Amino acid sequence: MSKSDLLYSDPIAAAVAAADEIAKKTGIAKHDVALVMGSGWVSAVDALGVPAFECNADELTGFLSPAVEGHSGKVRSYEIDAGDKKMRALVFLGRTHLYEGKGIEPVVHGVRTAVKAGCKIIILTNACGGINTAYKVGQPVLIRDHISLTAVSPLSGATFVDLTDLYSKRIREIVKKEDSTLQEGVYVHWRGPTYETPAEILMMRTMGADLVGMSTVPEAIAAHALGAEVLGISLVTNAAAGVTGEKLNHEEVIAAGKAAADRMGSLLKGVIPKLL
Ligand code: HPA
Repeated sequence: MSKSDLLYSDPIAAAVAAADEIAKKTGIAKHDVALVMGSGWVSAVDALGVPAFECNADELTGFLSPAVEGHSGKVRSYEIDAGDKKMRALVFLGRTHLYEGKGIEPVVHGVRTAVKAGCKIIILTNACGGINTAYKVGQPVLIRDHISLTAVSPLSGATFVDLTDLYSKRIREIVKKEDSTLQEGVYVHWRGPTYETPAEILMMRTMGADLVGMSTVPEAIAAHALGAEVLGISLVTNAAAGVTGEKLNHEEVIAAGKAAADRMGSLLKGVIPKLL
């Protein structure tokens, strides 16, 4: 059986195998917190200092090679100074998306691996379009709730998981103490790979959505179902389709991420030690 066969036949066993490999490679039995760095967020992680360990994600069981520029497909381990104790952060640079057409399992494999590696808190970052016209490009927004328009769940079978507090209120309060200017919003998961039409954005706004993107929701559900607390932070990299009349492109998404990297990095660095 190849390393990716196990991902599809027994995804939890694949996550346990990858977590064991991480523990062996890093020499760290248990990590505390995981971060998934989305489009444009990769350089924000520089604020965490020099990683204690780095490998290519596809060296680990179940991880596929990344498909998108800005998603470099690395796994890192950082030691974080948290006052009188040390924390261990597992960082995924890049993720697999539903629009890659490889199914839901690779999309959630990173967070499942992180939970099996000991992480009780999962921080999901992403780039998104701003549906709420009050948002400015370059603004980070905390995800308060989501709407899934893909109708694809990472769970199957009679697993009726409550999602009332999916995006942990406790953690959102900690983050807002760190930066009191942060706003919260409702994120819509759009499969992509096309961006939305202006009519679709109007529909989403009418439904009560503030942000739209192509990630995060399946990972949040999978992490929560395994008992982890979830924080979602979206960086508004563009006004959503039809809001300004400008066309959308991936380069502006990456550029807006780079421009905001310092602010996002210091936010993460300030927040992580306060989470446990
Ligand atoms: N729509 C969907 N995904 C995105 C967008 C958008 O406008 N911007 C960045 N990711």
